[in-house]
Amino acid sequence: MTDTTTVPNDLNAFWMPFTANRQFKKQPRMFVGAKDMHYATADGREVLDGTAGLWCCNAGHCRPKITEAIQKQAAELDYAPAFQMGHPKAFQLATRLTDISPKGMDHVFFTNSGSESVDTALKIALAYQRVKGEGSRTRLIGRERGYHGVNFGGISVGGIMPNRKMFGTLLGGVDHLPHTHLPDQNSFTRGMPEHGANLADELERIVAVHDASTIAAVIVEPVAGSTGVLIPPKGYLQRLRDICTKHGILLIFDEVITGFGRLGSPFAAQHFDVMPDIITTAKGLTNGVIPMGAVFVRDEIHDAFMTGPEHLIEFFHGYTYSGNPIASAAGLATLETYEEEGLLDRASDVGQYWEDALHSLKDAKHVIDIRNIGLIGAIELEPIAGEPTKRAFSCFLDAYERGLLIRTTGDTIALSPPLIISKDQIDQLVDTLRTVLNEAD
Ligand SMILES: Cc1ncc(COP(=O)(O)O)c(C=O)c1O
Repeated sequence: MTDTTTVPNDLNAFWMPFTANRQFKKQPRMFVGAKDMHYATADGREVLDGTAGLWCCNAGHCRPKITEAIQKQAAELDYAPAFQMGHPKAFQLATRLTDISPKGMDHVFFTNSGSESVDTALKIALAYQRVKGEGSRTRLIGRERGYHGVNFGGISVGGIMPNRKMFGTLLGGVDHLPHTHLPDQNSFTRGMPEHGANLADELERIVAVHDASTIAAVIVEPVAGSTGVLIPPKGYLQRLRDICTKHGILLIFDEVITGFGRLGSPFAAQHFDVMPDIITTAKGLTNGVIPMGAVFVRDEIHDAFMTGPEHLIEFFHGYTYSGNPIASAAGLATLETYEEEGLLDRASDVGQYWEDALHSLKDAKHVIDIRNIGLIGAIELEPIAGEPTKRAFSCFLDAYERGLLIRTTGDTIALSPPLIISKDQIDQLVDTLRTVLNEAD
């Protein structure tokens, strides 16, 4: 039964982001509540969350410690100016974050989203090259199929065509590495694929075209999510690191989805044992509850800015809500929840079970590839001829009707459940998907 107190009677005004607006408004899917692993729908059903919201609610939903922290902070100090003023919780959160960040990355710049973290990281990279006397390094290198949010810096280094083609010429001086998706060689790989490390060598080709003295930074997602989950080939990230080091190019890992335990370590950098110079995060930082992002930088980068007269601003960048008190309180409570429940390691403990369960779908209808790492999974479907994305979208709608939230990008089903998912819930997720796939046209 539809609850008329929670369902609006006019859906027209809200232009929804990254949504098929007309389809949605004809057949709305409304969440009105959430607890732990489940959403509650407006028509009174429970939906198992296979996506941690949008890769952000790593501790599950409406966790008491986080809720209480936000309530208390809102009543105590709602807002403090972010420029030239401070409040204790932003400093406490930054310090707590550096307890779990890779060694030597002891400085944090706060933003409000993944997109802002990416643009902040690109600006830090450019400005750093300049303050250390290498102002000719202005080029930025991204990767085909990369997703780095939706701001102009992010879509310029990003490599997903529909996110770029409507928006003019974007930033100049950007080049792209090839993506690492090699289905002929790597399909149905469990974990990291064998083939493709050599694709990192394309950076040498780009250096040969432009000269290293013109390149400021390379940005990649250690595991690409939005493009359909691409897991780095064995050795690929280290090779990229080595080439960057050789040529004085900064390496940025965009960890907006891999940060905060998704792979079984606080960050992908630790999981893969490859240290970038800058890490971008958001999402899991506050368990998705309040918008917040954070950019981690190596100490040398931070320290390079701390020169000149002390009354002068060192870096002309920041947001009204950088380190917002309520977001900071949410971040602190989120980190406590992760720590108390061992969630930053949990993807390692349950990873094998997750992998086996996902790969049991190999023989389901339409499946052409399955990929997994940590608590991430992808099931790629054969597209309907002439109608790309339609099959996966139908599966998304059917799964929702059957009580499971999945996410689709192109014809790939991407899965990233909260890190609290139980083995029984993994079984339920996979069983529901099997039914959905086998019944799909
Ligand atoms: C790797 C990556 N970077 C950046 C972003 C953008 O984050 P936001 O939507 O918070 O701006 C995302 C979002 O999914 C992401 O996956």
